[in-house]
Amino acid sequence: MSHAPVMLDEVCKAINLQKSGRYVDCTFGAGGYSRALLRKQNIALLALDRDPAVKSFAQELQEEFGSKFSFAQTPFSELETAISQNGWDGVDGIVFDIGVSSMQIDQAERGFSFMRDGPLDMRMSDHGPTVADAVNFLSAEALSAIFRTFGEERGARRAAAAIVETRKQSPITSTGALSALMAKALGSGWQKIHPATRVFQALRIYINDELGELTRALSAAERVLRPAGRLVVVTFHSLEDRIVKNFLRERAEAPAQNSRHIPQSEEDAFTASFTLPSRKAIKPGADEIIHNPRARSAKMRIGVREDAPAFPSSPLTFPNIPDLANLEAML
Ligand SMILES: C[S@@+](CC[C@H](N)C(=O)[O-])C[C@H]1O[C@@H](n2cnc3c(N)ncnc32)[C@H](O)[C@@H]1O
Repeated sequence: MSHAPVMLDEVCKAINLQKSGRYVDCTFGAGGYSRALLRKQNIALLALDRDPAVKSFAQELQEEFGSKFSFAQTPFSELETAISQNGWDGVDGIVFDIGVSSMQIDQAERGFSFMRDGPLDMRMSDHGPTVADAVNFLSAEALSAIFRTFGEERGARRAAAAIVETRKQSPITSTGALSALMAKALGSGWQKIHPATRVFQALRIYINDELGELTRALSAAERVLRPAGRLVVVTFHSLEDRIVKNFLRERAEAPAQNSRHIPQSEEDAFTASFTLPSRKAIKPGADEIIHNPRARSAKMRIGVREDAPAFPSSPLTFPNIPDLANLEAML
């Protein structure tokens, strides 16, 4: 099934296209956003995606829009490099539609779904460690921290212990095997969602460094957006939305009076690098949710870049969760 773009009308409006402007679609996917933006206005658009499987969609847009469209297979945290390689020094709008695409979930061989048996992979790109590597090599403590932090799984320890016990016999290599193991370790009676849901989500977020990517990309976006340029971000779960919300509020709103960040001098005074057209996240309409269940948990946030220096970026750290580089070194 091809991917139905979520909140497309809202995104097209929020980005506020300017004639001859330069725009970046950081999550190209099947190209739903890119195509709609290029059809709406005479703009130049650079699309990024780290999944090599989207190249055929990029080819289609190349044919329709010629030199107005370009594509780079790269993680979106590399936004600044991608823009400068495209010959640009700034942009007028950046859009993110975070998460997995329907194409990724639907292909059993990518290993994203506990509903379809396939290899335990879940990488959005074509390199780096897989979920099978994480599950078979990380310690019980590390696995438990991943399930708790990225999956908000209450049975994190039980899930990790079951994995460590099972892999003593033989490695866990398929989505079917992990899903059945989680059903045994975490399933008890009636549940609204499959018992493996949170563990799968957590492993996907970990193996793709999804929250680190998002944090670095938001800061990069702040550095490359021109004054009045727009940042539009659609997210699908609370961990991501919280990162976007905090990022924008920290840059748009002076800290509260009793904060220890209160300026000591005038030069130290707070200068907003973004203004927020809406303090609250925008949600899809009821009609869209009926037609596209994936839209159910979507939230859109918008920032309008001010003419002020970018804030320093602050990296995300998660105690007890090893860097992907550490996992790679263990293999
Ligand atoms: C939800 S889909 C985007 C769908 C797109 N808006 C459309 O209308 O077809 C998300 C896409 O972002 C890509 N993606 C996710 N994280 C990424 C990252 N850190 N860097 C680059 N691409 C990423 C995924 O590979 C996937 O193709």
